[in-house]
Amino acid sequence: MKLLLEIAILAPPALGFLYLPRHHRQPAVDSRDFLTKFGHITQKPLGFDARNEQTFLIAGQPVPKEDPYPADDAAGIRIHPVDERVCKSGSRQLTGHVNVTQHKSLFWWFHESRRDPKNDPLIIWLNGGPGASSLFGGMTELGPCNIDEDGKNTTYNKYSWSNFANILFVDQPAGVGFSTATNDTYFPYTADVAAADFSTFLRRLFKHVLPDYASHKIHLMGESFAGVYYPSILAKILDQQQRLAELGLPNPFPKIESMVLADALVEWASSKLGTYRTVCISRPDETGVDECRLSKDGPTCMAAAETCIKMEEAFWDLTRKGKRSPYDMRSDCPDRELCLSSFSDRMNTYFNKPATLSLLGLPETTKYMDTNYEINSRWSDWAFDTVIPTLDKVSRILEESSVRVLVYNGNSDFLINTAGVLEWMHILPWSGNGEFRSRDLQPWHYAGENSKSIKGGMRKSTKNGKLAFASIDRAGHMAPFDQPAALEALVKAWVEDKEL
Ligand SMILES: *[C@@H]1O[C@H](CO)[C@@H](O)[C@H](O)[C@H]1NC(C)=O
Ligand SMILES: *[C@@H]1O[C@H](CO)[C@@H](O)[C@H](O)[C@H]1NC(C)=O
Ligand SMILES: *[C@@H]1O[C@H](CO)[C@@H](O)[C@H](O)[C@H]1NC(C)=O
Repeated sequence: MKLLLEIAILAPPALGFLYLPRHHRQPAVDSRDFLTKFGHITQKPLGFDARNEQTFLIAGQPVPKEDPYPADDAAGIRIHPVDERVCKSGSRQLTGHVNVTQHKSLFWWFHESRRDPKNDPLIIWLNGGPGASSLFGGMTELGPCNIDEDGKNTTYNKYSWSNFANILFVDQPAGVGFSTATNDTYFPYTADVAAADFSTFLRRLFKHVLPDYASHKIHLMGESFAGVYYPSILAKILDQQQRLAELGLPNPFPKIESMVLADALVEWASSKLGTYRTVCISRPDETGVDECRLSKDGPTCMAAAETCIKMEEAFWDLTRKGKRSPYDMRSDCPDRELCLSSFSDRMNTYFNKPATLSLLGLPETTKYMDTNYEINSRWSDWAFDTVIPTLDKVSRILEESSVRVLVYNGNSDFLINTAGVLEWMHILPWSGNGEFRSRDLQPWHYAGENSKSIKGGMRKSTKNGKLAFASIDRAGHMAPFDQPAALEALVKAWVEDKEL
């Protein structure tokens, strides 16, 4: 859900922007500053040695390289059942940690499907950041329970995707949420390192914790910066499978059925282009673009051109004054930190409560933070994985695997906007590009109260269902929070491979 990170993406915190991590906040700059500062990205930032060598320095020392734990080794696996007292979920739950190396351990929380856990698919959910805890999804968006506003307890979520699927929430990379590293030195600092860790996590989890689920239909779903995480993870798994096949060794990975990217960052340039489309070209009657096209009248067209140029800046200006949230154009943003502080506050209150920690079997001394800002800034400052597109990885997944890909987007998300998402989906180099581009968007519907049909947004996909897109009306960056019934219907249809 939260996306400090996205923001980091479009406006890397290191470069100074309006939404900075709490402790690193610098004076707001306007987007022209942002563009000039952006030029600095070609210079060597602190700690960066040479991208090709992937060498990063902490206090002058290279970050240590570690061997992953072999799947067969059961070292560092913790399993802790929890119940309704910690999450009013309506189904069985398990939590725990899986070490991926001697120094890094990932926290997971598994919820059985409320319907038919033995046969239902398994969704593995990640939030973004980089550095955001996936319990945002688990406890404020699509999970089986939501943390109450005061952060004291939870409430049953009747729209949870656990109505039709088993769901696993994973805090990653190590250092995020309840996931740990022996010290900060080991925090993953690139998508490549995080992907290698996650691949180890999956192998060990299916070997030691959820062996029965390896044969279920597995769907990797994530929001926001997960547009970098998941394509990197799947590309890593493809690499590892290819290498093992060359060596004549068996494939240790379960089959992945699909990847779902939700308000996800895949290419910042497309998002940036999309903001212009969103404020100008998508609103042709308000900006005067339509009138210009029809009249071809000089002053009319000049006025439209000037309006469009001013509109985007005007929007950012409103966000700086706290009058608009970049996560949801419909909302104001009174806290100005993240426009999401009500979510962060309830998470941090709930997960630092001694009663919660004790129910989760975690030491009283545990300090939970919804976002690890140190990880967030390292990713921007060192590796630039907040600005390197994952387009080629998405193409490779479509071409080299049987994984289906769904991209959905809230229509009120300004940062990761629908226009920008369609932009990258239309330039994606793969064999289905022409077919996908040529398809028209069609409305999709779901059943609301009293089975009344409600328009959920617009959609299109290739005929074989390999690549699909859906927009969500009346939803911002955290679409399952804004439109829980619509998202429940959309994702259910997707995992059941049904037309909406
Ligand atoms: C697992 O990782 C944690 C750090 O997160 C470390 O403290 C612990 O020693 C590791 N355990 C094993 C058995 O590797
Ligand atoms: C963190 O780990 C590294 C590598 O083992 C070690 O050199 C460093 O001293 C540790 N830092 C702290 C604060 O313990
Ligand atoms: C939530 O409330 C229930 C009673 O409804 C209680 O048993 C449980 O301990 C509470 N959970 C926490 C984390 O305080």
